[in-house]
Amino acid sequence: MRVSHRAVIEVSGRELDDVLEESGVSTPVYVYDADLAVERAREYREAFSWFPGDVRVCYAMKANFNPHLVEHILDETRAADVVSLWEMRIAVEAGAEELVVNGNAKSDDELRAAVLNAWVINVDSMEELRRVERIARREERRARVALRVNPEVDPDTHPHIATAVEGSKFGVSLRDAERVCRAMIESEYVEFLGVHYHIGSQITDLEPFVEALRSVRRFLEETGLVEELRYLNVGGGLGVPYRMDEDVPRPRDLARALREDLKDLHSESPGFDLYLEPGRSIVGEAGVLVTRVRQLKESGNRRWIFVDAGVNALIRPALYDAYHEVVVHGGDYLETVRASIAGPLCESGDVLAEDREVPADVSEGDLVVFLTAGAYCESMASNYNCQPLPGSVVVRDGELVGVREVQGYDEFRTVWE
Ligand code: LLP
Repeated sequence: MRVSHRAVIEVSGRELDDVLEESGVSTPVYVYDADLAVERAREYREAFSWFPGDVRVCYAMKANFNPHLVEHILDETRAADVVSLWEMRIAVEAGAEELVVNGNAKSDDELRAAVLNAWVINVDSMEELRRVERIARREERRARVALRVNPEVDPDTHPHIATAVEGSKFGVSLRDAERVCRAMIESEYVEFLGVHYHIGSQITDLEPFVEALRSVRRFLEETGLVEELRYLNVGGGLGVPYRMDEDVPRPRDLARALREDLKDLHSESPGFDLYLEPGRSIVGEAGVLVTRVRQLKESGNRRWIFVDAGVNALIRPALYDAYHEVVVHGGDYLETVRASIAGPLCESGDVLAEDREVPADVSEGDLVVFLTAGAYCESMASNYNCQPLPGSVVVRDGELVGVREVQGYDEFRTVWE
């Protein structure tokens, strides 16, 4: 995705309005640059190529499960992190050869699918281990399991997306984790592989990642579990630049920060494979949400731009106070005014961007584009207020490879039959 000085947005080397015209899709629409997503996935693999064991980049499907896009990402990673049956299905249909199954309250069907397919289950508690054992016994299989531990680090991110603070609903505290790991080792129904942790999302400081690895390393060494370690899953969480001038660490910086501890740990163990579960840092920058100005309004001291999508299509500002850059495509930014951009929903929180600089002549029909909308935007979209789900266009090597029209009424209505 590239924004030129004349505020022209390009996707996979093509101008946005050209892509939209060829697709025939109306707004609101998510437009994805599959080249960029694939490049980011590859960056992970290359960044950790020094690791002595196998490295598996398991793309976190929750960030964006659009099948037209996922297909390209999984072509590169061949592995995915999934949290539901339908994520499993989409990942397998897109060519995933290996899945890791996450979640604090997985369903029996999800656990059964994991057991039957020999996918790694990141078990969240002793209680869940007992359920996995029952299912494995019934299916006459040995489940492949790891324990999700909570290293209790507090990354500097929004509280809703910090997952390893004390008292979190995810994982088992390191104080109680040995007991569960030993139960796994002793069980005849599961094969103990190792441990998993994930400390949160949109983390732009490397320190919490290092701190978490060191706590887990200490735990493994002190309990002697390092001798059993065949699998270490360090989760996802690396942030993306939501502001144009923001500089965030990249996969190679993360790899460098973790290198020494991972190498030492590897030499102390029988040898383990390294698993990563990045989502946002693969797709975040590869997508935009394109909306159209429906109406302008001036009231009190405020200038509003109302577009044809609201929090139904972009919930992150309302839910996490998230900031997404906004560009009026084709706009002349030489003369600007300040305005807030909001959707049409009956909800005061339906504001997508506050007090932004926009072209002074912005008018009805203009395209208003929200940047860095590849992760957790389409996957969190809803039909609130009976708004249609936006369409989507995936571009690869300049070609439109996946086009979906904005949801129609008949399609929407079938959900309620
Ligand atoms: N692994 C596990 C176990 C996770 O829970 C998550 C994200 C990931 C991997 C991927 O993390 P990432 O690399 O994408 O940061 N809806 C929120 C983000 C929720 C993240 C949930 N877990 C948002 O829009 O910011």
